[in-house]
Amino acid sequence: MTPEREVLIEKLVHGGEGLARLPDGQVIFVPDVIPGERVRVKITQDRGDYALAQVLDILEPSSKRKSPLCEYFGSCGGCQFQHLPYEDQLREKLQIFKETLSRLGKIEEDLIKGISPSPKDFHYRNRLQFHVHQETGALGFLKRRSHDLVPVRYCHLTTAEINEVLARLPEIPAWKRLHPYIKRVNLGLSPLENKVVMLFWTKVPPRDEDLYEILSEISVLKAIFYWVRGPKPEGPYSSEAPFKGRRLFPAPQEITGLKKDQYFLASAGAFTQANWDINLALISYVKKMAGVQPEEKVLDLHCGIGNFLLPLAVSSGKGLGVDTDHRAISDGRENALNWGLNGVELRVSSAIEALIDLFKEAESFPVVILDPPRGGCKEILRFLPDVACDRLIYVSCDPPSLARDLRLLREKGFLIEEIMAFDMFPQTFHLESATLLRRKS
Ligand SMILES: C[S@@+](CC[C@H](N)C(=O)[O-])C[C@H]1O[C@@H](n2cnc3c(N)ncnc32)[C@H](O)[C@@H]1O
Repeated sequence: MTPEREVLIEKLVHGGEGLARLPDGQVIFVPDVIPGERVRVKITQDRGDYALAQVLDILEPSSKRKSPLCEYFGSCGGCQFQHLPYEDQLREKLQIFKETLSRLGKIEEDLIKGISPSPKDFHYRNRLQFHVHQETGALGFLKRRSHDLVPVRYCHLTTAEINEVLARLPEIPAWKRLHPYIKRVNLGLSPLENKVVMLFWTKVPPRDEDLYEILSEISVLKAIFYWVRGPKPEGPYSSEAPFKGRRLFPAPQEITGLKKDQYFLASAGAFTQANWDINLALISYVKKMAGVQPEEKVLDLHCGIGNFLLPLAVSSGKGLGVDTDHRAISDGRENALNWGLNGVELRVSSAIEALIDLFKEAESFPVVILDPPRGGCKEILRFLPDVACDRLIYVSCDPPSLARDLRLLREKGFLIEEIMAFDMFPQTFHLESATLLRRKS
């Protein structure tokens, strides 16, 4: 095969790449393009049925094409859509979502009601995980289609506070002493304090003096935690660590239905939704979908710190949440108490163990929430009909695994009522969604 070809981009697909076809029908995937563009590409990997290519020249650019804001766009693996205006990103993402659900799950397009835009299209991320450059100590992301590192001094997706740490950390002498043992660093904003919590994974426990030197050099840092091994990280290291160094997220009363504004506490390393503004819109939507009645008990099988469980359980004061992460569960318990939800129980358990226990106890729930990690939750679906007796809400960050699981749930007697997409991750192909299903009576 000639490695350089001229092709027409037909459409964008899951992963954000453009799809084009060679005259012999072979499909090729091309990054950083827009449907309708004619481009000259170089084939970089031929995998038989399909090939991967990179753009050499845009011969006929789309009128929508814009200059990416970020100097690392194109090499950094983080963003795929900075060359598209935000409105067009939304349209393309919805189209890709519909096509993925139809192709992999046989889900009808008219069930998908739309896409809710992110209030911010840049500077929305409250947490980021970085790799550490072993020689220089710079933080960065992985290159596209590679395990190499792109060191970054600034990320347009995240907040000013996280960017301040990102820019300052590599220059600090204590960091230069510590970084050879550190592979990954997680920086998370505590939005109610405008402070950053740092968590890193290290092979060797650091000296306290080094941690305090970093804290004194970067005043926006609230606390440092580190993880060598064991069930939880060491810390907080801080001159003063309110709430034991945990992050604080707003839970406004118009979302929770409580009489006053509240907050969520989250420990270092516990899962939190990355874009809090759209998360609040998602909570509100899920709450409306669930329509919890005063006597109804809510079951959340991946409850984390209580992000959906607690706002939904406000209507009845009754709920059960499970999660395998004991730090998230202990945060969730404290959040429930702070919110006055004494009838909400949180347990450390896997979803499957919880379902088996509930089945043995002959307990069923009119409202069940699923919000699994990226791989979905195929393994628990066969136990769900015994426990979920009416509405089931499936929150997903991965359309392919959602499509597979929805198809299986239909086979198990659930009807899909509606699906809504939420743009939790502007500039990238990632998408969040909520699906309402109902058990056939
Ligand atoms: C996408 S997060 C969602 C958490 C929460 N719903 C939220 O919105 O913040 C997925 C959660 O599933 C938990 N998890 C992973 N595997 C699990 C399992 N087998 N059973 C229950 N929870 C699990 C993780 O610890 C994580 O908190």
